[in-house]
Amino acid sequence: MTEQKRVILVTGANKGIGFEVVKKLLQQSSSKATDIILLGSRDIKRGQDAIQQLGSPTNVHLLQLDTSSKESIIATTKEIKEKYNGHLDILINNAAIAPRENTIEATRTAFATNYYGIEMLNEYLIPLLRENGRIANVASGVGPIVSYLFSKELQQKYTSPTLTTQELDNIVEDFLSAFESHNLERIGYSSEIPFPAYTISKAALIALTRVQAREYCSNKNISIYSVCPGFCATDLNDHAAGSRSAAIGADSILYVIDTPTNELENGVFYQDGKKLPEICDDEAKVKAFVEHSKTLLKSKQ
Ligand SMILES: NC(=O)c1ccc[n+]([C@@H]2O[C@H](COP(=O)([O-])OP(=O)(O)OC[C@H]3O[C@@H](n4cnc5c(N)ncnc54)[C@H](OP(=O)(O)O)[C@@H]3O)[C@@H](O)[C@H]2O)c1
Repeated sequence: MTEQKRVILVTGANKGIGFEVVKKLLQQSSSKATDIILLGSRDIKRGQDAIQQLGSPTNVHLLQLDTSSKESIIATTKEIKEKYNGHLDILINNAAIAPRENTIEATRTAFATNYYGIEMLNEYLIPLLRENGRIANVASGVGPIVSYLFSKELQQKYTSPTLTTQELDNIVEDFLSAFESHNLERIGYSSEIPFPAYTISKAALIALTRVQAREYCSNKNISIYSVCPGFCATDLNDHAAGSRSAAIGADSILYVIDTPTNELENGVFYQDGKKLPEICDDEAKVKAFVEHSKTLLKSKQ
């Protein structure tokens, strides 16, 4: 019996870890039924170049998508409805940015892609997911690390078992307002938190994943996971020393796509096949991250 073709969308797949995810999906699909892989890229030329680099396989299609733009998300939804019978099986929310500047503009831009864009894309595309559809939200281990530095009250807000998307959006808006008015400590964010635009957006994404998994779980057996690829050499971190390959990072992401759902916990955060807590429980790890970030900031000054 031939397996049904899966339709898979990987956002921000023109380079880095997303590109490696597409490469691995291609290798997998040569041994199974041919999946249709939609290589998401906000820039058409960069997307075309990536597909060419893969040898222009016929089952990899370019999909222009800027995940920070509502218009682009609506256009993507329309394209999947028209070209792929409105079918989607797997969505890998990989696109993200890590701004260098610590300004409110850069922070809002980071949240538009790393948090709000994923929330919105999921809302638009979940109705298209077929039975047993899966979503991987690519987060980062820095989320739980900085959550350790939140006040207890703020930690409780992020991890509340009854948290709703609207309440989480309010927490994010409060963060952005306090960032702008330099009042972060007053609402429970330690001044020690490094690169807050990126790290807090990932903490919020991990919470969002748990909330969306609960809100959508009764629907078509859909599951949503957050996942960290690990510290990988890519443009995001200027191919930092001590990082592993983007291909290994892709394996970490694909674990939550390929593992049977009865061996996974819906809404939970994974790295390299292991569950990670939403708030890091390793004080030494938190201290090491804060110190490393300080050194990094000094070296860039
Ligand atoms: N590298 C690491 O050590 C590491 C660690 C933990 C988590 N992660 C996560 O892994 C994921 C992939 O990161 P990476 O290291 O591969 O980064 P990368 O090499 O910088 O690639 C990021 C990708 O996202 C795309 N992108 C950014 N904003 C976008 C938007 N608004 N719409 C559509 N695409 C957009 C970029 O497109 P352009 O080429 O057009 O800019 C690029 O294709 C991210 O979610 C990142 O946070 C990475």
